[in-house]
Amino acid sequence: MLPSLLLCDFGNLEAEIRRLETAGVKALHLDVMDGHFVRNLTYGLPIVAAVRRITRLPLDVHLMISQPGAYIDEFVDAGADAISFHIEAEGDASEILRRLRSKGVLASIALNPPTPLEAIWPLLDDCDMVLVMSVMPGFGRQAFQEVALDKLRRLRDFAGDRLLLEVDGGVNASTIGSCAEAGAELFVAGSAVFGQKDYGQSVTTLSELALGNKAGKDQKRR
Ligand code: DX5
Ligand code: ZN
Repeated sequence: MLPSLLLCDFGNLEAEIRRLETAGVKALHLDVMDGHFVRNLTYGLPIVAAVRRITRLPLDVHLMISQPGAYIDEFVDAGADAISFHIEAEGDASEILRRLRSKGVLASIALNPPTPLEAIWPLLDDCDMVLVMSVMPGFGRQAFQEVALDKLRRLRDFAGDRLLLEVDGGVNASTIGSCAEAGAELFVAGSAVFGQKDYGQSVTTLSELALGNKAGKDQKRR
């Protein structure tokens, strides 16, 4: 379970991160938007670097920017542990993925709900992770789009355990189970965590629902 910092209280960023650490999250998801690739602006390098200074949690940076190739080196230097960028963005995706790997961070490609899996198929050898979007990127609190489940299943069948699969958008107590069953292992949640008073409880509930469905799936496989 990875909380998306998009919906946290930025006036109390350090306190929010401490609450998330206490709640038992395994990593933080940072949504970087440039107001061009998506119609929203969030934050960039200084915030990623500031978060790096105050926590040891792995930082999973999701770049929703038009020219990821021009910025990835700086995000690596700012302390990212994993970087996802979009296949719909500009640039040579294969070159960007290889550059990320050569810098020792997890290299990940993200795709939007309308983008077919075929668009990233030739890149999978260069990926450590795929970020399957279950909403159009830009805003939190949107409804989960089921098209993500079919993509997750096909990726899991094709790649086995070789690829990490992450799902982002509309993940909550009602949808996380099907995501786990479809093969996702990293779940990004914004409103399902920050909409609750007790982060610990929502993180535990979501993690248990995900684990329960994964266990059910593994049993079916046997
Ligand atoms: C969407 C972002 C997500 C999103 C998560 O553009 O990538 O990380 O804000 O928020 P919820 O869980 O509310 O959909
Ligand atoms: Zn995201």
